[in-house]
Amino acid sequence: MAGKRPGITEKDFKPRVALGADHGGYLLKNELLARLPGQYDILDLGAHKYDPDDDYPDFAEAVAQAVASSRAQRGILVCGSGVGACITANKVPGVRSCLCHDTYSAHQGVEHDDMNVLCLGARVIGVELAMELVIAFLNAHFSKEERYHCRLKKMLAIEKRALRRQSDDSN
Ligand code: RB5
Repeated sequence: MAGKRPGITEKDFKPRVALGADHGGYLLKNELLARLPGQYDILDLGAHKYDPDDDYPDFAEAVAQAVASSRAQRGILVCGSGVGACITANKVPGVRSCLCHDTYSAHQGVEHDDMNVLCLGARVIGVELAMELVIAFLNAHFSKEERYHCRLKKMLAIEKRALRRQSDDSN
């Protein structure tokens, strides 16, 4: 996992993983927090208490921003289905988020597509599968193969063009 923090040597570097959930994902996020291995530096961006009226975009934006700004190397979002959190996170440039409920996609999404935020649906899967998905995601690395980098470049160019069009429209 790429990323450096000033004053921290390579040996002491712990990849930072940002976590967020609304009320739909609150309990599962807590389970993940309790079980995540110590090799990761966990940044819990809430919800910090169960609030049935909270809204997933608030937590999805916080996690997405943490990843986009490199404050965290990876993000994990949990909502009821995982869908709303995923759609929201992908609105932040630099974020490549996906809802993965199978372990193949959870690692292949990183290896081929440089996915940096994993979304989970707490009303859809249980904690054991969620943990396996998280481990598959966190252990995976973006492939060095040229074709995947070429595809990522195309993806980033689309993002750039869309941002440019938006800024042209607002001027
Ligand atoms: C909240 O009730 C629920 O709509 C939310 O957690 C999520 O499932 C949205 O995609």
